[in-house]
Amino acid sequence: MKNTKDSPFLWGAATSSHQIEGDNKKNDWWKWEEEGNIEGGVRSGKATNHWNLFKEDLRLAADLGLNSYRFSIEWSRLEPQEGYWDSEAFEWYEALIAECERLKLLPMLTLHHFTSPLWFTEQGGFTSRRSPELFIKMTRQVARRLGSRVPLWCTLNEPMVLVAGGYLARFMPPARYSPILASQALANLLKCHVGAYDVLHQEITDRAGPWRHHPLQVGIAHNMLDFRADRPWHPAEQLLSKLFWRFYNRSWLDAVCGISPPFSVPGLIPKGPVVHEALGRKTADFIGVNYYTKAYVQWRPRDAAKEHPAELPFGLAFARKKEPASDVGWAIHPGGLERVLRMASGYGLPLYVTENGIADHEDSHRASYLCSHLKEIARLRTEKNFDVRGYYYWSLMDNFEWIKGYGPRFGLIRVNFDTFERVPQPSYQLLKDLISTHKNADPTMNPNFEVCKNFQNSCDS
Ligand code: FCB
Repeated sequence: MKNTKDSPFLWGAATSSHQIEGDNKKNDWWKWEEEGNIEGGVRSGKATNHWNLFKEDLRLAADLGLNSYRFSIEWSRLEPQEGYWDSEAFEWYEALIAECERLKLLPMLTLHHFTSPLWFTEQGGFTSRRSPELFIKMTRQVARRLGSRVPLWCTLNEPMVLVAGGYLARFMPPARYSPILASQALANLLKCHVGAYDVLHQEITDRAGPWRHHPLQVGIAHNMLDFRADRPWHPAEQLLSKLFWRFYNRSWLDAVCGISPPFSVPGLIPKGPVVHEALGRKTADFIGVNYYTKAYVQWRPRDAAKEHPAELPFGLAFARKKEPASDVGWAIHPGGLERVLRMASGYGLPLYVTENGIADHEDSHRASYLCSHLKEIARLRTEKNFDVRGYYYWSLMDNFEWIKGYGPRFGLIRVNFDTFERVPQPSYQLLKDLISTHKNADPTMNPNFEVCKNFQNSCDS
């Protein structure tokens, strides 16, 4: 089977290990939670108890009509101490993949989704020189144990967010402000990505399972925002918003396409070392785009009296007052999806929307959010050179939303965090109807503009 623009569209949902599995005690996030860094002092604890309930969760994904599932492995479970590989943990992921096969959910596996083993972060995490070697070792083990049955891979989830959160804006561990460490981490993460890309292609030669003929595709899941000047007439805000498009949106796309990435920002983030192994060749077979919202860039000159270096000369706002927004204040802005996909499409690689979703406690906006964003994709797919091959809603179910704890609810399936009961939401049914309409109308399940339009009407009514 060739995987092309005309192959069945992948309808998926995305999750990540730490946000759902529970009891991931050996990673940096667990420690950070214990130190009281999460809003309300919350901890991930049992999360959704997916470790024990994964069969139920995958059954719900399959009942929804999905044909793909994006999840991440938890490095700290597979390698709880440096060089020690936990067979039981590998067996659990084998069972997860076997269940995906049984339910015809094509697996997309992410190697790193924000959490790292404690032994790794104690050595400096991705700022350490050893990090690429350690990450690549882990990738080799995963490729050997799980690789033959997994066709789609993301090496890293949102490396830009990982670095910004850890070393600039401090909403993730180790929560330090250090532009120098940020630039070292970016270079090391690129080395990790390139090394993992090569290792996956070298190691996974004997393919098995239902997707053995699907081409092995390795990419990244890259967060993109539709940056805008808060005051369109303001020269500093205009300039900053351009810089953000370049630094935040574009640099990882350049990096995986063999172009020297603009991983620096004049006066803010110094240039890191050149990653020679990434230059002059593509190290991605697809680009995964994680898109949620827009960002208004606001010029806020540094307060000269303040000595704290963390004071940045700008701020970001994710919605204006009165603008329709999610429970976490992110503007609902489907037009931005078109803008970021157009930029990503310019690199000539197939695209997947690897995350897109809304925090919506009442489930009152999720259906129309889904419709309006899918409509953008459907429209873009009618263009000749536009090759988006799948859409993964974030998230299959409510989960532990990082620094915000259990407040925001992104799930198509409601989770009761006391009883672990799962309750599909009305938007789950809408997506189910949407997918089955496509299945009946077109075996490739391509999103069809007209059908989306009908659903848009039914969402609006
Ligand atoms: C993305 C993350 C994901 C989740 C969503 C809401 O940036 O990849 O884990 O937190 O945001």
